[in-house]
Amino acid sequence: MSGKPPPVLISESDIEKRVTELAIQISGDYQDKGDLVLVGVLKGAFVFLADLSRRMTIPRTIEFIAVSSYQSGSLSSGAVRLVMDVRGSIEGRHVLIVEDIVDTGHTLKYLIGMLQSHRPASIRTCTLLHKADSAEVDIDIDYIGFSIGDEWVVGYGLDYAEHDRTLPYIGTVTPTD
Ligand code: PRP
Repeated sequence: MSGKPPPVLISESDIEKRVTELAIQISGDYQDKGDLVLVGVLKGAFVFLADLSRRMTIPRTIEFIAVSSYQSGSLSSGAVRLVMDVRGSIEGRHVLIVEDIVDTGHTLKYLIGMLQSHRPASIRTCTLLHKADSAEVDIDIDYIGFSIGDEWVVGYGLDYAEHDRTLPYIGTVTPTD
């Protein structure tokens, strides 16, 4: 986007503090369980996954998965399409899905079902942001960074029409379509 930077919703320092807390909590929960497979959901989770994974203290490996769920702009269709599957085998392994944001929940519900078919030892879910009031499906989220309202957010991996993913903080924008 051009013009003024988006107003700050969650500052860089608050994100850093919370991501560190989550990394410590997750590391404790998976202590002595062997290798944890972190599955980052492209594109939005790439920044969160990078920071979260580097602050963990347990053995972990990184996978990525890509889905398409939103139309261009601000409207969600509810339909989820797999664009890229995990590359390595997750059979018999502990998996943590890492999302940047859970909004309606359709994407995460789809991903849990899809990854279950790979027969992992367990699947848990982690998201930096959760729009609790926007939920359309019932799913358990094991680790939540911040609960937010029904606003459009950008930065720290999240975009608006591919803009502002590299902002270091979470900001708000007003959709124009
Ligand atoms: C965002 C986000 C989640 C999904 C959540 O991805 O990364 O995957 O939407 O929405 P839901 O809970 O309503 O299903 P998006 O489709 O914007 O793609 P991107 O990560 O590539 O920007």
